[in-house]
Amino acid sequence: MAVIIPDGVALSTSRLELRPFEFRDVEDIVSMGGFPTWDGSGPPSPYMKRHAEKLIAQKILDSWETNPSFVIVLDGVVVGSIGMTVNQSYETAEIGYTLQREHWGNGIIPEALKAVLSWALRDLGLAKVSAQADIRNERSWKVMDKVGMTREGISRSDHVIHNVRTGMVWYSILREEFGKL
Ligand SMILES: CC(C)(COP(=O)(O)OP(=O)(O)OC[C@H]1O[C@@H](n2cnc3c(N)ncnc32)[C@H](O)[C@@H]1OP(=O)(O)O)[C@@H](O)C(=O)NCCC(=O)NCCS
Repeated sequence: MAVIIPDGVALSTSRLELRPFEFRDVEDIVSMGGFPTWDGSGPPSPYMKRHAEKLIAQKILDSWETNPSFVIVLDGVVVGSIGMTVNQSYETAEIGYTLQREHWGNGIIPEALKAVLSWALRDLGLAKVSAQADIRNERSWKVMDKVGMTREGISRSDHVIHNVRTGMVWYSILREEFGKL
């Protein structure tokens, strides 16, 4: 279910609340040590209150129209985040997600991803949502398989992650495909 709220949109699933970042999330994000990344870009260690404040400020300043970004709330606590970069001219978006390590393997990101895809393709009316992952990041592309995204292919040797040149696996889903899942 999608509800329009002053600074964006709030979505809910059976277990999760998805809503825009707020400054009250600082404590949860510091407690979890920041959001895990795959590409070595963070989070800073040790993870300080100022890191969380800066991240939240950036998210709040970003335009919701081009960079909608949700915190994932489980049992009242922020455990992850999921966000998109929207290309309004082409009605497309690229989506990304991250989850606190202790919650991995419980299907939380597939649940959150389905909700955001539904909102993006149905309510927002985007034509296509894509996602990319390092080909070695099997955990991530398993999520894309699970929600019914289609593997488009691999772009070879175009990123350097953990000091190793690597390829990215690309997935996508089209508006007309989502309703059929
Ligand atoms: C990728 C990620 C978002 C998956 O979220 P999730 O909610 O755990 O997804 P799922 O529960 O569907 O688990 C996905 C796969 O991760 C693997 N996995 C689950 N728990 C794991 C754990 N504790 N350790 C290692 N792998 C684990 C399993 O292979 C699982 O697939 P399966 O259920 O088919 O066996 C999460 O691992 C993460 O935040 N990783 C770091 C950030 C990242 O890589 N973001 C994506 C960048 S493209």
